Amino acid sequence: MTARTIQTAVFDLVVVGATGDLARRKLLPALFQRDRAGQIPEGARILGAARADLDDGAWRAQAAEALQAWAPDAARDPEAAARFLGRLTYRQVDLESGAGWDALAALLRQPGSQARAVYLAVAPHLYADAARQAAEAGVLSPGARLVVEKPFGSDLAGARALNAELLARVEERRLYRIDHYLGKETVQNLMALRFANALFEPVWNARHIDHVQITVAESVGVEGRGGYYDRAGAMRDMVQNHLLQLLCLTAMEPPYRFEADAVRDEKLKVLRALRPADPEADAARGQYAAGPAGPGYLEDAALDASSTATFVALRAHVDNWRWNGTPFYLRTGKRLRGRLSEIVVQFREAPHAIFPAAAGPQRPDALRIRLQPDEGIRLEMTIKDPGPGGMRLAPASLDMTFADRLEAQGLGMPDAYERLMMDVIRGDQTLFMRGDEVEAAWAWVDPILAAWEDMEPPEPYDVGSSGPEGALRLIHADGRRWREIAA
Ligand code: BG6
Repeated sequence: MTARTIQTAVFDLVVVGATGDLARRKLLPALFQRDRAGQIPEGARILGAARADLDDGAWRAQAAEALQAWAPDAARDPEAAARFLGRLTYRQVDLESGAGWDALAALLRQPGSQARAVYLAVAPHLYADAARQAAEAGVLSPGARLVVEKPFGSDLAGARALNAELLARVEERRLYRIDHYLGKETVQNLMALRFANALFEPVWNARHIDHVQITVAESVGVEGRGGYYDRAGAMRDMVQNHLLQLLCLTAMEPPYRFEADAVRDEKLKVLRALRPADPEADAARGQYAAGPAGPGYLEDAALDASSTATFVALRAHVDNWRWNGTPFYLRTGKRLRGRLSEIVVQFREAPHAIFPAAAGPQRPDALRIRLQPDEGIRLEMTIKDPGPGGMRLAPASLDMTFADRLEAQGLGMPDAYERLMMDVIRGDQTLFMRGDEVEAAWAWVDPILAAWEDMEPPEPYDVGSSGPEGALRLIHADGRRWREIAA
């Protein structure tokens, strides 16, 4: 068996936006966990840059607080926390005036490190400017990698313009566009399930699969991100990236190798094969409204009025040989009944029923690929109810829960960012989106967003519900039902 953690080469990681939410909640805790696991070598440096006037000590104190809040292991392992904090250095950089980059560049000129990555943990409208300033100052040096978050643009034209601006600073093979869903354990496991086993491939097509449901339900609301969220809505925040990426991994052809461009070529083909959606028939939108379970979107986002959708349901068709006749239903929303992210592959009914009706219902098989909570894969089948009582059919499932396996080894479920940050350092782009993929996803989403501009505002749905009626109508029209979102 290969070792679980292989040390990376010595690196310098520059985090622009070092005092922001993303750095505190995700990046610092993820780097700490990898450091604690022994993956970060001696001499690696994490350089924070932001507008705040801080020194190294003040940023380390902020980072220590972030670890306390978001990396509970730090309190259990103070030695590892102290070692990690010792790697942090801070320089003040102002993206508005462009001041401060030289001091950062001087720090980076010190010999000793090799790989370099510049992570733009700032608002997306600052990406192009920040990349230009970093390149001009020599911080984004030839050979350095540039990391940006989603949303990448807010429509096709914006994504194209941003691609052009960033690609003027770094080549595509050094540009890492993050979609953190690709770093989730189960998402990678979906690829293992499909392409490391011969069992599913023969039935992974429209002949055997009735439909696929992809759900990303959240119980949280907009969590103080109202300003950003109101411009984005569920379509730009979740569907264009996370849900379409999950669709791609479910629908794609086997890549010839598990390697960045081979995988991304196959995902791109899926995006290009998506049939243009009919915004009336193939889409439903909702916005959560105040109810007994809590305040509505307008109050959460501190707005007087808004036609931003906090819930979207869609019917997508992948127009190719494999999927002709098998729809993909997507839905995502905030303030729903529960937190659930899963892909359900619903197989067709057995072609002929041999058991009498009295034996009970014979449900079609389903494969549930659960991203969260309870990460795992479950094959739902029908068995004979064990014991006496004649031939009675009962549902049963084959369960693969990854958390148990990790727990047995004394490990927790790694956060997606742990994997993704190490991939940046290692120079592996397999789990990052390529520019053409991002553009193809916008090309599908854009016409729907444009049509919504002239349509009725989104339908209200209750906080704590499963979403608006329109989502039910969408799937019921095909004689199918959504899987339950458990509370
Ligand atoms: C982010 C969105 O990309 O994903 C958030 O901007 C959303 O609105 C989050 O809450 C969900 O991520 P996860 O990992 O909690 O499912």
